[in-house]
Amino acid sequence: MAYRDGHMKFKRPPLRIQPTTLWDYPSQDYGDAQQGRPGYKGATPSYIIWNLLQRYTKEKDLVVDPFAGSGTTLDVARDLNRRALGYDVHPSRKDIFRVDARKLPPELSGKVDLVFMDPPYSTHLDYGEDPRDIGKFDAAQGREYYDAMDKAFAEAHRLLKPARHLALYVSDSFVKGKGFFPIGFELFALLRKRFEPVDIVAVRRRGRLVTLVKEHDPRTEALVDSIRFR
Ligand SMILES: C[S@@+](CC[C@H](N)C(=O)[O-])C[C@H]1O[C@@H](n2cnc3c(N)ncnc32)[C@H](O)[C@@H]1O
Repeated sequence: MAYRDGHMKFKRPPLRIQPTTLWDYPSQDYGDAQQGRPGYKGATPSYIIWNLLQRYTKEKDLVVDPFAGSGTTLDVARDLNRRALGYDVHPSRKDIFRVDARKLPPELSGKVDLVFMDPPYSTHLDYGEDPRDIGKFDAAQGREYYDAMDKAFAEAHRLLKPARHLALYVSDSFVKGKGFFPIGFELFALLRKRFEPVDIVAVRRRGRLVTLVKEHDPRTEALVDSIRFR
């Protein structure tokens, strides 16, 4: 099986439910197809979303991704017969609607079974021009980034049916000359205002994108992405 750009060839192993709180799968995508848009920088590894949907939803459930990016959540949901809605201020395909994660559609209140979000991690990546992009706020300066994420969490909470789950996938930040910023812990504290924690999972990344980041800063390898549930 080739990576998205055909750069490296290897055989993807079968997809399986991750039984511990260290999740590890050697590829961005599973199976013979690709999930999300090939080459999209910052795409969520699809096996993470696959595992979350297996654990916390059932067929026909409604999943919402307010930071849909290349549409990985939509593709995994389709594979698993879940209904899904994707929003983004820089929609990359027709089935993603141009909507701010802080102002989700009013008619969805109390109708959603799982919200998955993989938001910008401070200013790590440039996603585009839209000034509503939360990735334009630097977590190293002031509270703007966290205030924006707090609003996105409030919206997720409004959408969810009682006792259903939010899953957040996030990476901490290390910026040369500025220091280390534990975005995951900060967001976890914000989530506690509205949600009960269910689990924290460390995710091992072995994809090429992480290797690229590692070239910039060897410490990045030691950081873990984490997921937190309602
Ligand atoms: C880490 S990427 C999401 C990746 C996605 N899960 C995937 O697999 O392709 C973060 C996304 O958040 C979007 N975004 C940033 N600020 C936003 C906002 N206020 N509302 C909605 N989307 C936003 C960016 O445009 C970007 O597509």
